[in-house]
Amino acid sequence: MVNLQQDFPEHVDILCTNATLATMETDGEPYGLMSDGAVAIRGDTIAWVGRMADLPRDFKERSARIIDAGGHLITPGLIDCHTHLVYAGSRAREFEMRLHGATYEQIARQGGGILSTVSATRGADEQALFEQSAPRLLSLIKEGVTTVEIKSGYGLDLDTEVKMLTTAKKLGSEYGVTVVPTYLGAHALPPEYANRHDDYIEYICDKVLPYVARHGLAVFVDAFCEKIAFSPQQVERVFKAARRHGLRIKLHAEQLSDQGGAQLAARYGALSADHLEYISEEGAKALAQGGTVAVLLPGAAYFLREEKTPPVELLRKYRVPMAVSTDCNPGSSPSVSLLLMMNMACILFGLTPEESLRGVTINAASALGLQERIGTLEAGKDADLVLWDVSDPAELSYNIGLNPCRLVLRRGKVSEASGLQ
Ligand code: NIG
Ligand code: FE
Repeated sequence: MVNLQQDFPEHVDILCTNATLATMETDGEPYGLMSDGAVAIRGDTIAWVGRMADLPRDFKERSARIIDAGGHLITPGLIDCHTHLVYAGSRAREFEMRLHGATYEQIARQGGGILSTVSATRGADEQALFEQSAPRLLSLIKEGVTTVEIKSGYGLDLDTEVKMLTTAKKLGSEYGVTVVPTYLGAHALPPEYANRHDDYIEYICDKVLPYVARHGLAVFVDAFCEKIAFSPQQVERVFKAARRHGLRIKLHAEQLSDQGGAQLAARYGALSADHLEYISEEGAKALAQGGTVAVLLPGAAYFLREEKTPPVELLRKYRVPMAVSTDCNPGSSPSVSLLLMMNMACILFGLTPEESLRGVTINAASALGLQERIGTLEAGKDADLVLWDVSDPAELSYNIGLNPCRLVLRRGKVSEASGLQ
């Protein structure tokens, strides 16, 4: 960490003083905690992080704006590394069906589930899709989210997938949040390919994926490896195409059963494997070897009343980094609260509050390949940070339904969308 007095710049745009910093750096204290800390921002970058005692004497003259944190907590901007937040329609009817006894799988097999959102999303024009998705993004921002991954996968045909990815990008620029777009063509089999899984995979690999890559519409490719979706062999074809076209890889793996998806993802250098309730010990070892992040999605486990939880002990044993995310989607996790997910990760999955915060900062950054830019409070990184009305970082996981977010800075600018100035 750069905290030498001589490194404090001649001029900074914003200086946050008197803060308890959860830097989330790994060496040293839990949470990388530093009391009586200060963060200096120049342009869109963190210029200096250190102790109040190490500020130069004339720090006030050198700072255009000073924000006194009053001893409260500053964390890196939160990162929601797995969402499907761009979609049209609602699945509240299916929610009712499930409460009358139908299962998620039964509904999916009867042509409901993901496919009902596909038909709503195909039917919505770009403006409607934007307007329906924006409130979800705003809810995340209000809780301190500065980076969000958004998947396609409710269009399945070229035009609608492109519409989803374009909408995701537009949401990012409209609301001043970093959006990482992912192409999730292999999410479900579209009705026009009924019983023709392999033909649909060919369509993805030969048509949509190359188009998405050529037009810079996505950074990642994701797939749903599951009995009700695509087999490991089919997913592997998608991964090969992703490699050919320079897109990075993620995978929905072992959500409802163990398909060996984690091993497959790791073999292809996936940045993350997500869900993982049914992952085996072999799978956990493979993630460790592949440097693949395990993204845990407690909202989906909760909403589907999944009794099996991801084997957190095994993931710890093999030192697999764990991230936590909302999985915001209409079918299995209609959640727009990353703070609630942190609480659920602790209560339902047994993470510690520190693991939980790591899961929405540095480990989520790694799941997106952005660990050099975001995820910790460190000089040289993007000035994405959140000032909270609490002083103890465990409060972020502890509370249920309280939002202590006071101020969000994204790339050095106060986020107006946070609603808090
Ligand atoms: O992450 N598992 C597959 N995809 C989503 C669910 C999507 C849906 O039901 O609409 C998930 O849980
Ligand atoms: Fe998902």
